[in-house]
Amino acid sequence: MADWGIGNRVSRIMGSGKTVMLAVDHGYFQGPTTGLEDPRRTITPLIPYADSLMLTRGVLRTSVEPGTGVPVVLRVSGATSVLKELSGEGITTSMEEAVRLNASAVAVSVFVGSDNERESLLNLSRTVDEGERLGMPVLAVTAVGREMNRDARYLGLACRIAAELGARIVKTYYCEDFEKVVNSCPVPVVIAGGKKLPEKEALQLAAAAVSKGAAGVDMGRNIFQSSNPVGMIRAVRAVVHEGKPVEEAYGLFEKA
Ligand code: R5P
Repeated sequence: MADWGIGNRVSRIMGSGKTVMLAVDHGYFQGPTTGLEDPRRTITPLIPYADSLMLTRGVLRTSVEPGTGVPVVLRVSGATSVLKELSGEGITTSMEEAVRLNASAVAVSVFVGSDNERESLLNLSRTVDEGERLGMPVLAVTAVGREMNRDARYLGLACRIAAELGARIVKTYYCEDFEKVVNSCPVPVVIAGGKKLPEKEALQLAAAAVSKGAAGVDMGRNIFQSSNPVGMIRAVRAVVHEGKPVEEAYGLFEKA
């Protein structure tokens, strides 16, 4: 029956096939990231517009009320900081804890091409083994902190390996020829937003990714560092869920 549980959990996050996930896990390696110094204050007004929150157990417990009902994608890899080599992550949170926190998925980063490639891919594989046993989907995060070219060849390689090892969803970055990344990955792909861009450019990024087959976004800084985070997440939703043209969605951002 584990597959039913996994299907049910994935559908909480992307029931319509599309999703706007809000990434607020940056503190796990960046500390008090701009815009997330007080996570509760940043996250609370955005919850009604997020299809899920991606975060650590520490921020979940301290900054999100259990009654909100928003699906949680729990980051379970980490233990490195911006002060050192990011790719040396280990598993920081047990599967039992993820179940206790009623997570809808767990997230693990992989660092394909780094010296720690093997360890990070084994982190993913072991987490998938435990997750499959308990009905918990695993989202693989690719290409964080990479100095390697984030092109379709590299991202396609990283995403495909993550899917082959059992990830149910893959998160990556947008790139030229992005359809090649999506078409060679047998599970849904969502994009990170990356560094803060002007709002219209971030909406163009989301629109381009969805038009090339992405299931949506798992976006952080381009939402919570915006001058108007609620307006921005609403505009991103309009692009991802309603297929609104960027100009129209941008109008929503400005109006809100
Ligand atoms: C990276 O490992 C984390 O999941 C990031 O917090 C997330 O990818 C960042 O999202 P964004 O690039 O949209 O701020």
